[in-house]
Amino acid sequence: MNTLPFPIADAPDDFAREAGRKLFAGDTDFVKGVVAMSGLPPADRMEVCFAGRSNVGKSTLINALTGRKGLARASNTPGRTQEINFFTAGTSHYLVDLPGYGYANAPVAVVEKWQKLLKQYLSGRQTLRRAFVLIDTRHGVKKVDEEILSLLDSSALTFQCVLTKADKVKAAEREKVLDQVRAALAKHPAAYPEIVLTSSEKGDGIETLRSIIAGLE
Ligand code: GTP
Ligand code: MG
Repeated sequence: MNTLPFPIADAPDDFAREAGRKLFAGDTDFVKGVVAMSGLPPADRMEVCFAGRSNVGKSTLINALTGRKGLARASNTPGRTQEINFFTAGTSHYLVDLPGYGYANAPVAVVEKWQKLLKQYLSGRQTLRRAFVLIDTRHGVKKVDEEILSLLDSSALTFQCVLTKADKVKAAEREKVLDQVRAALAKHPAAYPEIVLTSSEKGDGIETLRSIIAGLE
């Protein structure tokens, strides 16, 4: 048994894997992009969101989860996803792609507007069950991430850390970053005590994340 806090999530058992497969085998569609709270779709189903720095791999992860390459746009241009984008997973869930933060070249006024909307969304959406906060496996938790983790603490919304781009680092480097991430997460009461290690490129951790989402109540 792993007695360390924040272990890496185990691969799902057959039952959980099947639940995850089923959920993501349903129709996945883009619903809408939202720029204000008034534009949110009706809160009529379970919702999970994906937050993280620009370029961390949020849109690519949604594509990997749904098995649809072009669903959430992914690009090399940081700051590409500028709206809160809603996607369906079957008829029971929304997947929500949040605008990336920490984009150095974004104008201050734009950043402030997004911070306000993000805050309103994270603390005011009743059907939002979990925020997945994506952290690049090469970089660990940065200062801009800390801001969002604190915001989540104060929103009383459980968040779970998802490490992305695991294919880009060697095992030794990964362990170093994991130590840093664990130490950072330990300071946040809203952190779910388990980390998901993923590579959208290789498919690592995707079944695990699908089954975690399908298992939320
Ligand atoms: P914003 O929309 O700007 O906030 O970015 P994002 O978080 O949605 O990132 P996006 O999914 O657009 O990915 C950024 C870049 O990282 C793209 O070039 C992806 O192909 C690449 N990328 C994403 N996930 C992985 C991964 O698991 N492995 C590798 N090697 N590259 C990845
Ligand atoms: Mg994106």
